[in-house]
Amino acid sequence: MASPTTFHRTKKSNPKMVSFFPTFSTALLFLLTLSAVALLLLHSPSLSPCGGSNSSSAAPASSNRAFFGDLRQVDFSWNSLRLSTDRPPPTTLRIAVFSRKWPIATAPGGMERHALTLHSALARRGHQVHVFTSAPPSAERPPEGGAGSTSPRLHFLSGPQWRCDEAWALYEAEEAAAGPFDVVHSESVAVFHRWARNVPNLVVSWHGISLEALHSGIYQDLARGAANEPMTPAFNRSLSESIYKVLNEIRFFQNYAHHVAISDSTGEMLRDVYQIPSGRVHVILNGIEEDKFAPDTRLGEAFRSEIGVPKGTAPLVMGIAGRLVKDKGHPLLYEAFSKLVLRHPNVYLVVAGTGPWAQRYADLGTNVVVLGAVPPAKLKAFYNALDVFVNPTLRPQGLDLTLMEAMQCGKPVVATRFPSIKGTIVVDDEFGYTFAPNVEALLEVLEKVVAEGKARLAQRGRACKEYAKSMFTAAKMAAAYERLFLCIKNETYCSRIGASGRGGRAGLSGCGGRIRVSDRGDQAGKNGYGGRTGASDRRSQVGVDDCEG
Ligand SMILES: *[C@@H]1O[C@H](CO)[C@@H](O)[C@H](O)[C@H]1NC(C)=O
Ligand SMILES: *[C@@H]1O[C@H](CO)[C@@H](O)[C@H](O)[C@H]1NC(C)=O
Ligand SMILES: *[C@@H]1O[C@H](CO)[C@@H](O)[C@H](O)[C@H]1NC(C)=O
Repeated sequence: MASPTTFHRTKKSNPKMVSFFPTFSTALLFLLTLSAVALLLLHSPSLSPCGGSNSSSAAPASSNRAFFGDLRQVDFSWNSLRLSTDRPPPTTLRIAVFSRKWPIATAPGGMERHALTLHSALARRGHQVHVFTSAPPSAERPPEGGAGSTSPRLHFLSGPQWRCDEAWALYEAEEAAAGPFDVVHSESVAVFHRWARNVPNLVVSWHGISLEALHSGIYQDLARGAANEPMTPAFNRSLSESIYKVLNEIRFFQNYAHHVAISDSTGEMLRDVYQIPSGRVHVILNGIEEDKFAPDTRLGEAFRSEIGVPKGTAPLVMGIAGRLVKDKGHPLLYEAFSKLVLRHPNVYLVVAGTGPWAQRYADLGTNVVVLGAVPPAKLKAFYNALDVFVNPTLRPQGLDLTLMEAMQCGKPVVATRFPSIKGTIVVDDEFGYTFAPNVEALLEVLEKVVAEGKARLAQRGRACKEYAKSMFTAAKMAAAYERLFLCIKNETYCSRIGASGRGGRAGLSGCGGRIRVSDRGDQAGKNGYGGRTGASDRRSQVGVDDCEG
């Protein structure tokens, strides 16, 4: 969620706000209308993959596309740019990072993992990275300053509570002592908009926005209704408030100079609903460390026997991972799987994670293996033990890392049909199945999975791995951010990628910066919201030519 908690807290405690709420039905109608408008906008076939460019959106998918201009204007994900990671950067950057938390020891959330992976990689590339973050528990406290020049330098606040004003003061002190930063990077609203307003070199990465929260609120309420559960007052309130959160975000997001959307659909929402000019919205998908998630058949088999999945009978193994709570869609999967297993006694479900639904799953009998929390070091073995990974989430804000991890391990996926998932992860039918969030739709998809069997799933898994390798790696993410940060430091870097194979020097001559989108596709943009493209243009690489044509 992108909401700045302290910011909203003041709003919530304002009694006037309550009388301002319309009746629930009016509010719901408003919500639905807004979502419908948003969805229409996002589904619009006129969206061009090369917004603001010179290419024709009517060009067939297989044609060579080229456009003149500026990387800031591309609306597909920067992960699909062919950016070198083996040459040193053309110049080193001084980067200030604001992150509410910095992961130290215990299992961090997605946003913190992203910050650590990204900024460790940038520091290894030689950039000077300074992280402003809240104080960790003293037992876990690493040395401030970081271990040497190849890791980020940490600046801790006085307490564990995030305080933007205190972090900003530390940042200003660092600037006074050692000179200005080239770029300021905020993980979601770590830098509140009041501070961000006059900082032209500020980039904010949104790990989930309120429009996505509103969408998931609708799905959660529909699932609640289908299960005949009463609406809790807290849920009712958060649903009605979500529209105001969207309206609020649309206003305050304007204060940030540059926005990174971590999925294609978030990019479209920021441009089309939040009305942030295209040149200030950049799509960079989060990345997964390749060495931690990779196909390994033997590791997977060992894990299967370790957890007691029977051998020999060629069982089909499905797996889920994450917090086992209602809004992650477990009521749907529980219902669907309990029906599926009656018809297919050879199908197993492996459940990784903790939460109230763990016991429910355990009650389903011997076809369900409940593992509890799986330590990060075991996740590779877990994914490799599966035939298919299932994620029935009802609130996929940001981008779901588990789906990307499963695909990096060469596993196909079954996931809820949300914009971020369809537009960025399951962008090709070959990668798996998406379903509308109801038990019937999920069961239908699971039946198809069982019917096609292990060999076909393994084939899909290879396609998943190939795609994940081309789009979801930490190296791709870091290269994309580096390029964006360089571009913010000096516009020269916005239109030119360093010359390759010319003495290793990143040449930046002013020769037009022609960027060529090869016929292997530019799916991430074209496909941004709903798999409009076929398998043929899945393998995307956007090359950036040097000086030719
Ligand atoms: C939800 O809240 C509204 C007021 O905002 C109220 O009118 C409505 O009855 C509530 N609905 C339920 C199901 O509690
Ligand atoms: C578009 O490309 C053509 C060449 O293909 C060029 O002559 C024209 O100036 C370009 N237009 C813009 C707006 O860049
Ligand atoms: C930007 O980079 C180019 C190429 O390195 C350099 O010639 C130019 O002076 C730089 N501009 C600024 C404003 O630093």
